[in-house]
Amino acid sequence: MKTLVYPSLSLWALGAVLVASAATVTQQGPLASPTTKFQVVAPKKSNIHASPVLVQDDLYFSTLEPGCALVKCNAYTGEVLWTYMRNSSARCGLRTVPVYANGLVHIGTDNNTFAALDAETGQVVWSYQARFNLCIDGNFYHPCEAYSTALIVDGRRIQGSEDNTTRCFDAATGELLWNFTAPNMMNGSPILDPSGGVLIGADDGHFYRLDIATGAYLGRYNHCGAMDTRPALDIASGRMYAGCFIKNDNPSGHDISALVAIDTVANSTLWTRTPGGVPIYNDYYGALFVAGFDGTAYAVNTSNNQVLWNVTFLPDTPKLFFGPFVLDQVRHRLYVGNVNGVVYALDVNDGAVAWTFRTQNAIAHQLGATLSTDNNILYVGSYDGTLYAIDLTSVA
Ligand SMILES: *[C@@H]1O[C@H](CO)[C@@H](O)[C@H](O)[C@H]1NC(C)=O
Ligand SMILES: *[C@@H]1O[C@H](CO)[C@@H](O)[C@H](O)[C@H]1NC(C)=O
Ligand SMILES: *[C@@H]1O[C@H](CO)[C@@H](O)[C@H](O)[C@H]1NC(C)=O
Ligand SMILES: *[C@@H]1O[C@H](CO)[C@@H](O)[C@H](O)[C@H]1NC(C)=O
Ligand SMILES: *[C@@H]1O[C@H](CO)[C@@H](O)[C@H](O)[C@H]1NC(C)=O
Ligand SMILES: *[C@@H]1O[C@H](CO)[C@@H](O)[C@H](O)[C@H]1NC(C)=O
Ligand SMILES: *[C@@H]1O[C@H](CO)[C@@H](O)[C@H](O)[C@H]1NC(C)=O
Repeated sequence: MKTLVYPSLSLWALGAVLVASAATVTQQGPLASPTTKFQVVAPKKSNIHASPVLVQDDLYFSTLEPGCALVKCNAYTGEVLWTYMRNSSARCGLRTVPVYANGLVHIGTDNNTFAALDAETGQVVWSYQARFNLCIDGNFYHPCEAYSTALIVDGRRIQGSEDNTTRCFDAATGELLWNFTAPNMMNGSPILDPSGGVLIGADDGHFYRLDIATGAYLGRYNHCGAMDTRPALDIASGRMYAGCFIKNDNPSGHDISALVAIDTVANSTLWTRTPGGVPIYNDYYGALFVAGFDGTAYAVNTSNNQVLWNVTFLPDTPKLFFGPFVLDQVRHRLYVGNVNGVVYALDVNDGAVAWTFRTQNAIAHQLGATLSTDNNILYVGSYDGTLYAIDLTSVA
């Protein structure tokens, strides 16, 4: 599911499409749809894959090929402030979610380059090209990609790669401080372990716990197989929740998606639930909200592990959600887009659909859509090559 290559979908995405198409949609009456405050067309109308990133009044969004661009615009008007383009005929897409820290925007490319740009000017401050390797996804080989979203901690940039390696750079200079290689791809996005160290999911069925300063191996937790998203964490209890795929040896079958709950303090798996998806945890609701890999969505009460609601018949052809919901605590709504290009607003209490918004192609944000600080705009980038600033005040 990681590599969404326009116009075809990867193996996992296809699996989800097949599952979801068995469902028939029954929706009473037309749904409302919000308007946009502005739209920004991406350079060369390239696919937007990564989540947009908001830094104060600025919004950054990146594209895949042919633009291979990072665009900085005003978050409230859409005025473009600068555009960085790699201008390469090689694999140059910016698929990983850009990360801002200390005046730098950290990016990674589909050719395993790790770089940092000056946020004021868009100029390259440092760049590191990992040794060239081919990686397999589904049935085809491509240059290994940086897919994992970087974590910046203690002045260090920690990030996995399809080449089975997690690297730690000095975030300011790009000096490689350490690396750690697992037996399979490291496409998970790192988070801090509540007991110390950094945690990153690999496709060999484990989360690796590594020392931030040295990269030393501190132990591991089991998940269910392959994983390439960012886990949700309940910091108070030390419980971690993650979407993963159970390997299916049947060549005609698809990997089975699951959601695992791990107690990082006791070092134990609490439960595994199918179907899986990308979870967010919210301690006010004491619940997990899961955007399903099969195009459904559900909420779980983490006190008693009961499913609070489960929406299996979303309108407009339910399809795989790549990334998690974003929670709007003012409107008590959850927002998420799917690979069918539809953005849904669901009621946080019962999953009822409040509105939908259509883009012309897939939405595949690894970390979900982005809410403005004033909570009135939802930023969504689509494979149709447009960044949409959805006006949340335009719809009830
Ligand atoms: C890419 O090309 C544009 C237009 O020619 C130019 O302004 C920009 O500096 C180039 N970017 C890089 C990284 O060389
Ligand atoms: C990867 O990037 C390097 C450096 O930009 C370039 O020389 C090489 O041709 C690229 N390879 C592919 C397969 O994109
Ligand atoms: C990890 O770092 C060592 C030491 O710098 C280097 O020799 C090795 O090639 C690196 N491994 C990878 C996979 O980048
Ligand atoms: C990553 O691990 C897989 C599975 O062991 C292996 O087939 C592949 O060659 C490794 N990739 C790299 C770049 O070393
Ligand atoms: C959890 O326990 C297992 C089995 O003893 C061990 O291999 C693993 O490293 C432990 N995990 C951590 C994070 O300590
Ligand atoms: C979640 O479970 C706890 C413990 O059973 C219960 O007290 C609480 O009311 C439940 N929350 C919701 C929203 O149902
Ligand atoms: C949601 O409902 C569907 C259809 O009844 C069921 O197959 C699925 O297991 C449910 N999901 C959860 C998380 O309970």
